[in-house]
Amino acid sequence: MRLRAALLLPVLLLATPARAQDAGADGAMLFERCAACHTASGAGLPGAFPPLNHDFRVLAARPEGRRYLVLVVSVGLIGPLQVDGASYRNVMPAQSGLDAAGIAAVLNHVGTRLSHDGPAFRAFTAAEVAGYAADAAKTNASELAALHARIDP
Ligand code: HEC
Repeated sequence: MRLRAALLLPVLLLATPARAQDAGADGAMLFERCAACHTASGAGLPGAFPPLNHDFRVLAARPEGRRYLVLVVSVGLIGPLQVDGASYRNVMPAQSGLDAAGIAAVLNHVGTRLSHDGPAFRAFTAAEVAGYAADAAKTNASELAALHARIDP
């Protein structure tokens, strides 16, 4: 019995911060739909699906980049696009059915679990994501690729 408790404790300690951070929405579960293209590790497929690693953290460290990341999920993205030295000219469809908390949770899953290189990652809150919602109607998937080129050439 004591041994079992000792084994369980670290598991519980590890599980708690993840739940608190996702604030209700399960980022790992939501990422399953993204993994269909970006793969479960976020490594992507060179030339087809960009990796969610170094470039992601560089963007998340800049105010315009944070807005870009949120809008890519809700609006989609049509290249040409340069990510970590490789070119992409593909289409990411808008990811429907995600509310602000869901978008924050899935981006935080990427930033904390899949993206390891680059600047420190600051988590998204649902309130920050909701603040960009009105911008979604004012842009489109091609404009977002042009925006990427301006933020992180
Ligand atoms: C059907 C395939 C597909 C799915 C599903 C998908 N993506 Fe993408 N994603 C792409 C493609 C393709 C690109 C690059 C677009 C291009 O080539 O112009 C991209 C680009 C991105 C970028 C921009 C990366 C950068 O460094 O600028 C982010 C961020 C991103 N996706 C996150 C997500 C998240 C989060 C999800 C799930 C909620 C998701 N994607 C689901 C295909 C997909």
